[in-house]
Amino acid sequence: MNIVLLGAPGAGKGSQAKKIVEHFGLVHISTGDIFRKNIKEQTELGKQVEAYLERGELVPDALTVQVVQDRLSQADCQKGWMLDGFPRTLGQAGILDQKQRIDLVLNLTVDFGVVEARLVSRRVCPACGLVYNTQTYAESVCVCGERLVHRADDQSETVKNRLAVYQAQTEPLIEYYEKAGCIKNIDGMGSVEDVWERTREVLGATRNFLRAMTCGC
Ligand code: AP5
Ligand code: MG
Repeated sequence: MNIVLLGAPGAGKGSQAKKIVEHFGLVHISTGDIFRKNIKEQTELGKQVEAYLERGELVPDALTVQVVQDRLSQADCQKGWMLDGFPRTLGQAGILDQKQRIDLVLNLTVDFGVVEARLVSRRVCPACGLVYNTQTYAESVCVCGERLVHRADDQSETVKNRLAVYQAQTEPLIEYYEKAGCIKNIDGMGSVEDVWERTREVLGATRNFLRAMTCGC
């Protein structure tokens, strides 16, 4: 099963992605995570994309598409993948369509006021990648023992810019995938567990449908 996960910054893509890939056995591909890892390691790619992430702007399509194509060409992706944060422009979506089969696009919908509050209070573990929120987790240290950090692009001004960029460049993808008839909206309000219940239901139905289509009986 090949899934695209859409949603505004802070909609909960990363939080749901972790559960989805564990439950459905998919490969999780987050372009944001790939970029941040490269920035941390100061690779050539990391140096090229650092300023874009700092400003909350999108990395140019050519660079982003190459990163995703390289990752999708690896053998583990044969078992199915979930793209988190890609595509984010109509250009990226068009190229993905030419190269890959998409079974479902999940769009997490959350009010902008809520996502802004979630992002400014998000804390992440630089060692194991676990994501927390100060509203529900008061400790400053991860369960793995590492000190939690505030993502550089989670400062209030940068969050505002990321939301504006999302509206201008990524929101049009909803209509694009509606026309293609492959998108399902998931209400992203409520707790992580509430959203997971809704997500699991939609994905379970899709998986059953795909199995019925391919079993030949
Ligand atoms: P990326 O890392 O993808 O960031 P994003 O899309 O802005 O989304 P976030 O990771 O901030 O939020 P999320 O939806 O994953 O929410 P999370 O689960 O963490 O991209 C970063 C940057 O990389 C971009 O700005 C761009 O520069 C570049 N980039 C990436 N992809 C690109 C592309 N395709 N093209 C060009 N450039 C690209 O949750 C957020 C917080 O809320 C957490 O604290 C969490 O604990 C909490 N939370 C989650 N769900 C709930 C819930 N249901 N209830 C309460 N709290 C919740
Ligand atoms: Mg994320």
